[in-house]
This record gives sequence, structure tokens and C-alpha cells, in this order.
Amino acid sequence: MSTRTNSSASAPAVRPRVVPAGLPDPAPAQNTSSLPVPTLPLRDTRARPLRDLRISVTDRCNFRCTYCMPREVFDQNHEFLPHAQLLTFEEITQFARVAVAAGVRKLRLTGGEPLLRKNIERLVEMLARLETPEGKPVQVALTTNGTLLRKKAQALRDAGLSRVTVSLDALDPVIFARMSDSTIQVADVLSGIDTAAAVGLAPVKVNMVVRKGVNDSQILPMADYFRHTGHVVRFIEFMDVGNTNGWNLAEVLTGRQILDRIHDRFPLKQLDAAYRGEVAARWGFADGAGEIGIITSVSQPFCGDCTRLRLSPEGRLFLCLFASRGHDIRTLLRSGATDAQVLHQLAGVWSPRDDHYSELRGQATVMPDKIEMSYIGG
Ligand code: GTP
Ligand code: 5AD
Ligand code: SF4
Ligand code: SF4
Repeated sequence: MSTRTNSSASAPAVRPRVVPAGLPDPAPAQNTSSLPVPTLPLRDTRARPLRDLRISVTDRCNFRCTYCMPREVFDQNHEFLPHAQLLTFEEITQFARVAVAAGVRKLRLTGGEPLLRKNIERLVEMLARLETPEGKPVQVALTTNGTLLRKKAQALRDAGLSRVTVSLDALDPVIFARMSDSTIQVADVLSGIDTAAAVGLAPVKVNMVVRKGVNDSQILPMADYFRHTGHVVRFIEFMDVGNTNGWNLAEVLTGRQILDRIHDRFPLKQLDAAYRGEVAARWGFADGAGEIGIITSVSQPFCGDCTRLRLSPEGRLFLCLFASRGHDIRTLLRSGATDAQVLHQLAGVWSPRDDHYSELRGQATVMPDKIEMSYIGG
């Protein structure tokens, strides 16, 4: 296991680059219409099919979670992406349509905070109309901090959203405020969760990032609170995403340690994965009160089954959450390209993919710049 640290104490004096806007783009759009159709579903060099597309619709957020958007970096001087640079809903939908033809079965909207993107329900509606080559609907999910959910849940459901995942790191108001660095109340997030379930966006998943010594006292209260609700809490090992979050291995409570704590109080039994490549390991309460999930990217990486592609707000494709370089797709989309041309570009990105960062984490000595979580959305 790596002893590399990235603590704020040792952060460089220079402001870290948080959006890879200055990176050179790869080859510009080319005329691919005469090329053969790639074999579908697309597979990478490790034979991993392309199955999930995570679409980040904004790099903005109304929280400043210390592990994601530390306020001293994401302050009033921080330059967020200007609106004109963001992919339009039509551009996102064209790309998603092609990705679905190439094998994608789940679209997940993320951010930043995706509900801050104006008229997001219109995008949901456009995506929910997509169909797989077999004529089946595509799952459209969304990961949100929940603050706008009470207001938007019904419209999202009406637009065709399948389900939501809500980030919530504590029930205790003081610890919640410390984690989110905001004055928004836990009660607002909880009522967002309940409204979402009530309108049919269920089961609601609740993501809790665990930082040892900061919010690990909330593991049992969270497990207890969400028993018998039908909502599924997922406990997430604190990850070294980006360059600004002050990650330190000493703050990682492993999935095993988290499980042991919960199991001591509420006995658990392991459940089968809901689908191949599921990020969370599922555990059921032995007394039938529901289930929880554990996400162990640090202690037990799951790169072997990683079928996820990420689309950034301004149209770059990232093959890994820990990548430092994206592949421009916006130029092609804005040039009026056909779906066939987009598919060829997508195949050219996915087929040579070899990413498995979490498996290499322990060996890394020098890390390149990594994209920020608030930009790429997990
Ligand atoms: P469902 O299984 O559909 O509910 O979604 P999910 O768990 O894949 O999505 P979610 O946005 O809730 O992500 C849960 C946590 O897993 C977040 O902390 C993500 O950053 C993390 N995560 C998701 N995909 C990956 C991945 O490919 N690699 C790593 N290392 N972490 C991931
Ligand atoms: N480690 C683990 N999970 C994180 N998330 C954000 N930053 C981190 C991190 N450093 C979670 C958010 C959200 C999901 C997309 O990723 O809480 O639920
Ligand atoms: Fe916002 Fe989510 Fe990042 Fe918190 S973790 S700052 S809610 S994008
Ligand atoms: Fe996939 Fe990269 Fe996460 Fe591994 S570290 S599971 S390759 S996104």
C-alpha cells in the first residue's frame, strides 16, 4: 500500500490546476465515414465492454465538501467553465445515443451538482427516450447532493429519470456542516431523499464518504437511520481523487473496518452483485431491515470490471476517474458529425484503453495531475 500522501500541508504554493483546460487535444475530427463499423459492444485492451456513461453536466456546486472542493481552492477567484463551453443538451444526447449503440446501458448524470444545470429535466427527457439496439429503454440515473431534490424530484421522475443517488456524509448537523462546508441543513437533504423515493425514484442510494477521524462516528447512526427505509447507504473509502482534496492514507477507513463496525451492531450477510461490474459490494441486514453497500476503491480495487466512460461538461472523454488527460469529442460534435463518425471516434478512444489506476495506486511514486472530482463527477 502506498505511503504517498497529498496532504494540504505539503500542497504546492502554486494554485493547483483544477480543470485540465490547457491540455492539448488529440487529433481533430476526421472523415471516418468510409471506415468499417467497429465490433460492438466496444471492448478495451483488457476485454472490458463499454457499459456505463457518466455525464458530468457542470463543474459547479453549492457545497464545498472539504474532500472535493476545498473552499481555499474553489473560491471567488476560481474560474468555472463558461456556459458557452459546456456541451449543449443536443450534443450530449447525440453522444449518448452513439454510446448506447456501442454498448452503454446506463447513463448517469453527475457534476459538480447536476441539479444546478438549468432545465436538467429536459436533458433527462431527451436521454430517457434513447433505446438499446434491442429496443429496450436505457437506465438514466443521477448522483446529487440532494439540496434541490425536494423541489425537482417530481419533474425529474416525470421526465423519465430511473433513480437517484444522494451524497450525505453525516446526520449530525455539526459534522455535516464540517464535511460539506455549507450552511445547508441535513433536514433538507433528508427530505429530498424521501421525496425522491415517494415519487418513485427508488431505491434511493445514499453515498457516505468516510474520513477517519472526521465523520466515521456517523457510520452507525447512518446505518441505523436508513434501516427499514428502503434506501441503501453506501459507505465509500475516501479516495485520492484530484490534486486538491488533501488525501492522506491515514484518513482511509477500509471497507473491512467499516463492515466490522456495522456487523458488530447489526449483523450482516453478503449479497450477490446486482450487475456485473457493480462498484459497491452489497450486504444485507440479517434481520431483513434492508441492505448497505461498501465501496473499496483503495483497499480492494475493482478495475478488472470497470466498464465506465466519463464525459466532462465541456466534452472531453475520460477513461478513468484518476486520468489526467481527456479526449476531445466536442469539436467533432460541433462540426455536425454523423453518428457513424462519432462512433468511430469513440471506438478509437475506448479500444486502446488500458486504465487501471486503483490497482497501481500502491506502486505510484510520481503522480501526474489528476482531474478533479467536481469536474468529472466520480
Ligand atoms: P450504481 O451502481 O448504478 O448505483 O452507481 P455507482 O455506485 O456506480 O455511482 P455513484 O455515482 O453513486 O458512485 C459511487 C462511488 O463510487 C463514488 O464515490 C464514485 O466516485 C465511485 N466510483 C464510481 N465509479 C468508479 C470507478 O470507476 N472507479 C472508482 N475508483 N470509483 C468509482
Ligand atoms: N472519495 C470518495 N468519494 C468521493 N466523492 C467525492 N469525492 C470523493 C472522494 N475523494 C463521492 C461523492 C459522491 C460521489 C459521486 O463521489 O460524495 O457521492
Ligand atoms: Fe459538491 Fe458532491 Fe463535490 Fe460535495 S462531493 S462539493 S456535493 S460535487
Ligand atoms: Fe475504472 Fe479507473 Fe476506477 Fe479503476 S480506478 S475502476 S480503471 S475508473
